[in-house]
Amino acid sequence: MTTEEYVVSTEDDCYIGRVASVDTNRALILAESPEVIQTLTVSDLVAIQGATPQEFLVGIIEKVKRSIGSPILIEPEAEENDEEDFDVVIDHDVVQVALIGTYWEVLGDKRQIFKRGAKYFPRVDKQVFLIKEESLENLMSVVASDTPEDIQLVLGTYGNTQSKAVANGDKLFQRHAALLGSTGSGKSWTVASLLEQAAKLEHTNIILFDLHGEYKTLTREGVEAGKDPIAEYYKIAGPADIENKNSSSVFVPHWLLNKDEMLALLLDRSDNNAPNQSSRFTHHVRELKQQYLVENNLTELTDGLTIDSPIPYSIRHLLDRLSTDDNGTKLGANGKTEVKGDWNGKLTRFIGRLETKIDDKRNSFLFESPEGANEYEWLATYANQFLETKSDSFGIKVIDFSEVPSDILPIVIGVLTRFLYNVQFWRAEEDRTPIAFVCDEAHIYLPTKDASDADSRIALDTFEKVAKEGRKYGVSLLVVSQRPSDVSRTILSQCNNLIALRLSNPQDQQVVHKMMPDSLSSLTSVLPILDTGEAVVLGDAVLLPSRIKLNKPNLEPASATKDFWRDWSSKESKGDSIISAVESLRRQSRLR
Ligand SMILES: Nc1ncnc2c1ncn2[C@@H]1O[C@H](COP(=O)(O)OP(=O)(O)OP(=O)(O)O)[C@@H](O)[C@H]1O
Ligand SMILES: [Mg+2]
Repeated sequence: MTTEEYVVSTEDDCYIGRVASVDTNRALILAESPEVIQTLTVSDLVAIQGATPQEFLVGIIEKVKRSIGSPILIEPEAEENDEEDFDVVIDHDVVQVALIGTYWEVLGDKRQIFKRGAKYFPRVDKQVFLIKEESLENLMSVVASDTPEDIQLVLGTYGNTQSKAVANGDKLFQRHAALLGSTGSGKSWTVASLLEQAAKLEHTNIILFDLHGEYKTLTREGVEAGKDPIAEYYKIAGPADIENKNSSSVFVPHWLLNKDEMLALLLDRSDNNAPNQSSRFTHHVRELKQQYLVENNLTELTDGLTIDSPIPYSIRHLLDRLSTDDNGTKLGANGKTEVKGDWNGKLTRFIGRLETKIDDKRNSFLFESPEGANEYEWLATYANQFLETKSDSFGIKVIDFSEVPSDILPIVIGVLTRFLYNVQFWRAEEDRTPIAFVCDEAHIYLPTKDASDADSRIALDTFEKVAKEGRKYGVSLLVVSQRPSDVSRTILSQCNNLIALRLSNPQDQQVVHKMMPDSLSSLTSVLPILDTGEAVVLGDAVLLPSRIKLNKPNLEPASATKDFWRDWSSKESKGDSIISAVESLRRQSRLR
């Protein structure tokens, strides 16, 4: 191999300067001339010459600065220039670099090897070169080739080059990932672009929680004419969907909720009678579930029955039983006169709250069971529609939560996730096809502990469990949020991969800063200046942490940023559409 074939160019036009000082995972470089540093930007890559011409340490620029009279230099040329120059202040142009990898043009009988991390300390005075243009493309293809082709997931391109930024698709999902960035930075587009690649696989198994219905454009129901959909569309049924018996509607029957979830929905913990209400609720639900087993000749299941078992019961029957308690009487101490029963009057408010929930049309997906839901087999079909990968349907399932009332949204997402996680848990190890949950707008239902009330904590417990234990059962999370500082730290700290887009808020930057390894933490400084669709990616799925331009999806989510100025000159705000919006508001469902 001749030097011309080398990946890293050591030509003069790439030369930056020499190593002036070394720390454990950082190096300070003294630039050759003031002109050189003008061509450098934070997040550029450099190669530091190693012990042989074939060996380099690869670093990422963290700071470029002009320091005046910096202590890093030993009296520069003082002896030669004598007294007259002695007081002259000399400017030093320095570049601070975080060491992220080691590269060998030749290593033993192998060629072009890149390894993560610095395998030795750089030596003072060694030459440093900027990795740009062809060098950059060459190095990136070496890095990409480290990931076997069949598990390559292309995230985007490096800088202005055409070289692909490749992640290891296995590792990206194995230990959870976070996709963070301010509103409009390009998260939803990135999700769509990731899904497009995943959709090419035979048995993709991804469930996307879509809070605004913006991913409908990826499905048969909303795709642009002439384009091919990549996902199935499901929607948590709104009032109109129930009336029209929409086939994509999803119900979350009340009996799927466990005791804690149901009580989070119904119980007012500040009520004096809360303990009585909770105990009567538990008692009756258990009995109703037991009754179901008896009526359906399933008594062999009685031993395993708990209050949380997903066994159907009628919410009306529960109401009747609670009302009987609430109006109940018993014989007084004398054994003759009737006095108030033990729970008389104590459940009134609980019943009131339950009735209000049942009567609220927006909650129909909880209380109005779809046809056949009381059949014992229904639940397995329900799980199958989300977890089975079939040749005639897409493995990516978009679940639209846009019409779920916001106060119960965390509970509903939590119930569905807990149910699917449990099914995956109970599957035989060898039968488990891995499954990923994409949690868009995660700050809404995965809040930090101090910000969350009792209701949203219910979902949090489920997701924290998935974050901690999901790896063993092949369940992964992709946490997407515009407010990382509002997202559960437990969950974020379990994310081994990070795609950080533009982030302007200092608190959010702080959170991302903490997720980065020490050696790279100063990359946080580029977060506010990233362009739309540009990101810093790091983690075990990417060999070389770097700043990349993310790919645009072919199917764009309906999350377009509005052109205010242009629209104000061309887009009339029509009265008709306002009238129909008011009607939709009243009905709590979109008129289509
Ligand atoms: N990779 C990209 N390249 C170019 N433009 C992009 C890219 N990604 C996003 N955009 C632009 O940014 C706009 C907003 O992107 P997107 O909807 O993905 O933002 P977001 O981060 O999901 O915002 P929010 O947090 O509000 O949901 C898009 O409509 C598109 O115009
Ligand atoms: Mg979005």
